[in-house]
Amino acid sequence: MRTRVGIVGAGPAGLMLAHLLRLAGIDSVVLERRSREYVEKRVRAGVLEHPTVELLRETGAGERLDREGLPHHGFALRFDGVDHRVDLSGLTGHPITVYGQQEVVKDLIALRLAAGEPLLFDVSDVALHDLTTDAPRITWRGADGTAQELTCDVVAGCDGFHGVARQSIPQSVLTIFERAYPFAWLGVLARTAPSADELIYTYHERGFALHSMRSPEITRLYLQVPPEEDIADWSDARIWDELSARLATRDGFTLTSGPILDKGVTPMRSFVAEPLRHGRLFLAGDAAHIVPPTGAKGMNLAIADVRLLARAVEEFVRNKDERLLDSYSADCLKRVWRAEHFSWWMTSMLHLAPDADPFDRRLQLAQLRYTAASDPARTSLAENYVGLAYERL
Ligand code: FAD
Ligand code: DHB
Repeated sequence: MRTRVGIVGAGPAGLMLAHLLRLAGIDSVVLERRSREYVEKRVRAGVLEHPTVELLRETGAGERLDREGLPHHGFALRFDGVDHRVDLSGLTGHPITVYGQQEVVKDLIALRLAAGEPLLFDVSDVALHDLTTDAPRITWRGADGTAQELTCDVVAGCDGFHGVARQSIPQSVLTIFERAYPFAWLGVLARTAPSADELIYTYHERGFALHSMRSPEITRLYLQVPPEEDIADWSDARIWDELSARLATRDGFTLTSGPILDKGVTPMRSFVAEPLRHGRLFLAGDAAHIVPPTGAKGMNLAIADVRLLARAVEEFVRNKDERLLDSYSADCLKRVWRAEHFSWWMTSMLHLAPDADPFDRRLQLAQLRYTAASDPARTSLAENYVGLAYERL
């Protein structure tokens, strides 16, 4: 088989890249290790930046998002038992949109299949070859176990942090920048109405907690826990008790509980592999970089990467012009490092490190109080949270 662009991974990065390339009239094949059902049910991100929403809309992938997504014009920073609202729309002119990552994935899969374009699920043994030639190849086993091969002009590694693409690059080529955090997030999805209209990021002496949502009937909540925490140690009752303790306010906030539909523990790390290119292999999304979830940047960065990659591939295919491919890595890394800094900053301000001493806590509270009290500080937080316009970074 031959195609222009072989895409490994059908997460937000791979599916959006395939979508943008199709609109540009460029053939691609998407290979995904998991089943369609699995990727459509995987509960992950929930916050879309304004530029992400605009891009989905402009490219015809925003119809259900516009109907079912929840525009949020602000969120609360909760500390000392009091809320301090960050007025996103007032400060930046734009809201964020709460819409589950798996809903974006479902929408992009539906568009791809409706267009009759190749998207292969349940593949195994994906391997990349001849990456430094102008005809790189991908081999794999199809769902029925038969050996397959694809020759491409470009391979896009959109296969997430544990995928095969980054591992196919010789170690000597990549520089890794990394930070581990001494905590993780325990996330739950519950069938109960949100207990507030907006997201609440809570700093508490028992640890960070986040109140979010997916719909008027479904609440999404997170608790800071130790990194090696076993989810089996967290009964539903213990989860609700801990959330209630951390989210308590001086004026008697009540958290509504309900049946827990999904729960899991996610480790937190910052990670960047530079450059995002080796020969004709280009990395995008979590395959190249990870941010801790505080601030909700991961999926948005994946979409921003492939926006640039699609343009670069288009110039290359249409005009034989490789300049955008050559600058792809450096162009992406500007936004990536902005998000790395923002996510690290939000994480450091809101979480309690196990070795934190009273000095560290005073510094966190000083930063929170300043952010709550100062228009410039709140504006800086808001513009990063809502997402800088693509032209600016
Ligand atoms: P992925 O979504 O990981 O997709 C990669 C795909 O490649 C997967 O489908 C995988 O099965 C497939 N794959 C892997 N290996 C292979 C292989 N060898 N062959 C073929 N296919 C393969 N981000 C936000 O923007 N906002 C948020 O609110 C937010 N909250 C989060 C909350 C949690 C609890 C977690 C875990 C993450 C959150 N994120 C958030 C991060 C976000 O989910 C990721 O950044 C996003 O999924 C990255 O998309 P991707 O397409 O690069 O990678
Ligand atoms: C959600 C996840 C985040 O990482 C965040 O900062 C806000 C909301 C969510 O899943 O709803």
